[in-house]
Amino acid sequence: MLSRPRRNRKNSSVRNLVRENALSPHDFVYPLFIVEGKNQKQPISALPGQFRYSIDELLKVCKEVEDLSIPGVVLFPKIEDSLKDSKASEALNKNGLVPRAVRAIKKDFPDLVVFTDIALDPFSSDGHDGLVVDGEILNDETLEVLSQMAVVHAEAGADFVAPSDMMDGRVRNIRQALDAQHFKNVGILSYTAKYASSFYGPFRSALDSAPRAGDKKTYQMDPANSREALRELKHDLREGADMVMVKPALPYLDIIHLFKQHSTLPIAAYNVSGEYAMIKAAGEKNWIDEKRARDESLLSIKRAGADIIFSYFALEFAKDYWKK
Ligand code: PBG
Repeated sequence: MLSRPRRNRKNSSVRNLVRENALSPHDFVYPLFIVEGKNQKQPISALPGQFRYSIDELLKVCKEVEDLSIPGVVLFPKIEDSLKDSKASEALNKNGLVPRAVRAIKKDFPDLVVFTDIALDPFSSDGHDGLVVDGEILNDETLEVLSQMAVVHAEAGADFVAPSDMMDGRVRNIRQALDAQHFKNVGILSYTAKYASSFYGPFRSALDSAPRAGDKKTYQMDPANSREALRELKHDLREGADMVMVKPALPYLDIIHLFKQHSTLPIAAYNVSGEYAMIKAAGEKNWIDEKRARDESLLSIKRAGADIIFSYFALEFAKDYWKK
């Protein structure tokens, strides 16, 4: 035998030398759920260890996030039913939950990178990402609302707006609206390839944002397709995205890899709620070693090509990282 691959694995020092990929807290963005009120830290049953925070409690978590060297957070609001309507009007309220949370975070933690989600579902009585008329999800009419929403978030101080709605032409529309209002330094992280996935279940129950009728298959992508993801990528590159995302992450590592080869923009991947819930559930039952399964999964996302990982595991990963 001329070549014996095991020589390079013979002990942990050699393995440390030849390791190709490593995770650090700098790789992560931590998703946070927010709710009205004070002293609220409401557990989310399908996401053990994750909570809906009122703004005062949110600031405490942001302090932890910053102290652990996690560079950013993304915010998702739980909107009261009484504020939801078919036009998702609350999404444009400058004093709504999201703009207030962004202002509070940027005041206390100016260096924390704040991403906001651009889509109508948490605000819409239909629970869809776009406006619904007679069962149809309207594209161009939705773009107007999304662009205004992006401007509201930019005014509040968001660093990046992150359209997760999958309407056609949204990146261009949002870019133009931001530039027209002189927010040329606010970036766009596009959810470029967002699949119609079963893995969003725990997220939708956390926000009570599931579609009231139908599903999201006329706008989110078919899990069977990868060339179509490249088509979406071309659109977003042309339209001025600053970062492109693949979502979910683990069932779509091939798409992350594809994006890495076809773009020079930073690639983000969203390790979504269902991916987190599965590992937590099996870990609770002692069916797997939860921390090892967590680290192996996160590392696979990085190895596939992700530069930025959105994950509910971010905080606990970072705590364990600094303990070592
Ligand atoms: C809203 C949105 C969703 C997620 C992020 N932004 C849900 C959906 O599209 O139904 C899911 C995130 C997760 O499951 O962790 N458009």
